[in-house]
Amino acid sequence: MSPGSDDLSHVHEPVMVQEVLDYLGLAQPLTEERLIVDGTVGAGGHAAALLDADAGIRLLGLDRDPQILAHAERRLAPYGERVQLVRSSYMHLQDVLAAHQLPMPSGILLDLGVSSLQLDDMSRGFSFRGDEEVPDMRFDPTDDEAITAQYLLNHASERELVRILQEYGEEPRARAVVRGILRARPIQTIKELCEVAQQNALRGRRHHPATRTFQALRIAVNEELLHLERGLGHAIETLAPGGRLVVLCFQSGEERLVKVAFREAKLAGKGEVLTRKPVRATAEELRRNPRARPTRLRAFEVGA
Ligand SMILES: C[S@@+](CC[C@H](N)C(=O)[O-])C[C@H]1O[C@@H](n2cnc3c(N)ncnc32)[C@H](O)[C@@H]1O
Repeated sequence: MSPGSDDLSHVHEPVMVQEVLDYLGLAQPLTEERLIVDGTVGAGGHAAALLDADAGIRLLGLDRDPQILAHAERRLAPYGERVQLVRSSYMHLQDVLAAHQLPMPSGILLDLGVSSLQLDDMSRGFSFRGDEEVPDMRFDPTDDEAITAQYLLNHASERELVRILQEYGEEPRARAVVRGILRARPIQTIKELCEVAQQNALRGRRHHPATRTFQALRIAVNEELLHLERGLGHAIETLAPGGRLVVLCFQSGEERLVKVAFREAKLAGKGEVLTRKPVRATAEELRRNPRARPTRLRAFEVGA
């Protein structure tokens, strides 16, 4: 989710499914079995669409969040042995493939950000619709070494918080929000964080004023751009010859990283960028699923 999207947590529909299939090269019937990696399996919406597209597809699904993975396991159970799910960051894809003795994949999908299931579970602290819950926001709540948003809010320096809100949230009033956070310390609940954001953040027509602050904290807590930068490089190295990487971005920091990584891979002779410009959802999809509005798809094909 992003400043460009609302907290539409009731919507579970995967975005740009047809475009994902097209750019992964799966729109035509397959002549041989293929391994596709869904690096951010989430609720399993894209995974199910991929598996439905062709009986020759085998899927490795990864997610950092153990609770989401349990949900994906239930949803994808009908596909039996065609599916393997592993709790891991896509940043560690090469290790996962080696540990499970899997071949080089012919397609990798990354659908970045947070899933509607995570937003719906108020105890996770991702949603500004929460109340007395702790602003936790870790993708893996069993990781005791990972910092929480609450820790950042109460311990990070003013300068660090301003950087986080500007870089990851693109909050135009970052300094005012951070001054509000410092005044409100210690912040213990989602409600307290929301009040600070509501009083200080930029008010837009489309979004709740806390949207950018919540997005920024989530990206910082989970070091999402670090995982993305490393993950893109590994994905391109890991794909089989002629294999394709498709990334769905929701936020401009993510998009910049993808654009640069693809350009550098092309310059290094590793393959071709398939999307000269980012591809967006059709008007028809936007009518059905407004969550797709900020989505930008970029794709890369590794040299054969
Ligand atoms: C937008 S959702 C994916 C939704 C999914 N495509 C679907 O159709 O249901 C993003 C998911 O990626 C997971 N995630 C975020 N960063 C990750 C990473 N570095 N590695 C693996 N999973 C990650 C989140 O936990 C979340 O479940």
